[in-house]
Amino acid sequence: MEIDDPVPQQVEDLRKKINCHNHRYHALDDPVISDSQFDELMARLRELEALRPELVTPDSPTQRVGAALAEGFAQVEHPLPMLSLANAFNYQELEAWRRRVSTLLEVDDFRMVCELKIDGLAVSLTYEDGRLVQGATRGDGYRGEDVTHNLRTVGSIPLSLLKPGPARLEARGEVFMSKEAFARLNEERAAKGEPLYANPRNTAAGSVRQLDPAMTASRNLEIYVYALGHTEGEGLPASHWDALEMLGEMGLRISRHNKICHTIAEVEGYYQEWLEGRHGLSFHADGVVVKVDSFLHQEQLGVVGREPRWAIAYKFPAEQAVTRLLNIGVNVGRTGSLNPFAVLEPVVVGGATVKMATLHNEDDIHRKDIRVGDWVTVERAGEVIPQVIGPVLARRTKEARVFEMPALCPVCGAEVVKLPDDAIHKCPNAACPAQFFELLKHFVSRGAMDIEGLGERWCRVLIAEGLVKDVADLYSITEERLLELERMGEKLAARILSNIEASKSRPLSRALFALGILHVGSEMAELLAQRFRSIDEVAKADEERLVGIPGIGPKIAASVVAYFGAEGNREVIRKLKDAGVDPREEGPPDGMDALPLEGKVFCITGALATMPRSQAAARIKALGGSTTSNVTRKTSYLVVGAEPGSKRDAALRLGTEIIDEEGLLSLLEGRS
Ligand code: IVH
Repeated sequence: MEIDDPVPQQVEDLRKKINCHNHRYHALDDPVISDSQFDELMARLRELEALRPELVTPDSPTQRVGAALAEGFAQVEHPLPMLSLANAFNYQELEAWRRRVSTLLEVDDFRMVCELKIDGLAVSLTYEDGRLVQGATRGDGYRGEDVTHNLRTVGSIPLSLLKPGPARLEARGEVFMSKEAFARLNEERAAKGEPLYANPRNTAAGSVRQLDPAMTASRNLEIYVYALGHTEGEGLPASHWDALEMLGEMGLRISRHNKICHTIAEVEGYYQEWLEGRHGLSFHADGVVVKVDSFLHQEQLGVVGREPRWAIAYKFPAEQAVTRLLNIGVNVGRTGSLNPFAVLEPVVVGGATVKMATLHNEDDIHRKDIRVGDWVTVERAGEVIPQVIGPVLARRTKEARVFEMPALCPVCGAEVVKLPDDAIHKCPNAACPAQFFELLKHFVSRGAMDIEGLGERWCRVLIAEGLVKDVADLYSITEERLLELERMGEKLAARILSNIEASKSRPLSRALFALGILHVGSEMAELLAQRFRSIDEVAKADEERLVGIPGIGPKIAASVVAYFGAEGNREVIRKLKDAGVDPREEGPPDGMDALPLEGKVFCITGALATMPRSQAAARIKALGGSTTSNVTRKTSYLVVGAEPGSKRDAALRLGTEIIDEEGLLSLLEGRS
């Protein structure tokens, strides 16, 4: 008798449920279960797939993040070119477009669809029999890059469609980063002392066009699908609006703000509504796209060059203004970077008064030839800090002067350094009060040592009054000294002191984060804490050891080693320890027990019977090992599956240990 195997059906049901909730959450913005219930479903599916690896399919919701690509992207040809749009900058130009369309079609009355023009990056998604098989960038319109691995990580892109659609379906849309996700990313970067990103569009594009899907996944990108591309099958829609409806029903995310319009007055109404309303959107929109609805009409109108006659981008005015650049100031960041900023004659840009703007760095100022005293164009885009675009040269006077970075730190007077391959000037003095003020704020902040009561103002006072010269000094402040400070009451002093005391028991990860080591954000601090168990152990690690840990690259390793190498920092750690700040992580120390495959390099060749190679690689990594695509002298094991290629010969030549799938499983399961 055949035994009924319930697992495949359970897996299938779970996937259906997850896809359905995913669609409700991402595409419809209407979740019906909580995040934790969703996580539970995912956990159950992961569990079943771990038990039965043969059931894992590439479109399973668990398979969004795959391994990083070793080389660049493959090129893909677009079966239908990805067009761009002609622009209209005012009502007259919009009307002229409609008149031309009307004349060419020889009809007075035709439907148009209005959509928001999202400022992101255009992508093409190809589904075969309902499964996502390719994601590509627009490229030059004819050929783009295959970024399937990265686009699979975007939550609002379904890996499989909800309904069986045409045999082959291409959807096109805009991938973007919300204003909020962008702001959060920049906050995290600021906390790590890393340079900020300039705007959400470039950041979204950069996140899609890089080789590590895990990085794309961390960026919280989104998509709105705005068109049907090359599609083969029966019963295809006759109009753009119907196509959008069809795509929506299949689970693709369509904007709720799309609208059918019959007259140009209605289009203008839509435009005016969003001209104001765009500031309240969660993403940056730079105009309205107007499209002739009927596909038959679209065909009759055709394309000139790369621009279809049947659509136009009715652009919002850029949020720019011209004003005087009164001065260029320089502030010193937490990591010592000298950041120039523009002091402007106040001017209203996009509804807000702007008095200051970023100027990036000295090279940028010179490249744009911005001089103090110039009239300059200032732009505010979305949530971004205002920027100086460039000078209005026609209005330059003789008084305008070329900017030079100060040779000495404007705060502590230390000699400024500039590394040859770096655009940034730095104050090298870790004890520089400007740096120290930023560091102290960070040290006491909620995600770090969480010393409530010590806000920005008191940090400033403690430094100014000489009570703290490094973060460890916090722990020797007395009530007496605190009460001497202006506007300090007994209650507040007691609260601050008790919070300082309580901070001694923060976990190691928080303490490591609090130190403000360049590139060590809260996640990295967590990883270091788990691996090293005490600050002293982290301090002892050399670059080689650090780089050997999955998740730590050479930049981070170098920064950690440089931090603990500086005598000033070592002194602070000693003082912290003496004061009782020496957190330790519980559990077995970093070593063979915790990560049995630490330092082992695997190369896998041929197909495995029990799991896909990507899964084997993930399991190896989880146990501390790493994988490579070729056999080299560093390879510890060559794992051979069915039909191994030439790698076996290489392993024999180099004397690399060769194991089969069973051997790998023994290592993974700790049976050897
Ligand atoms: S339609 C002919 N619709 O704008 C069809 N494009 O300048 C061309 N874009 O490359 C695209 N939102 O990246 C269309 N609702 C929308 C859009 C949109 C943003 C971008 C797209 C395109 C560029 C054209």
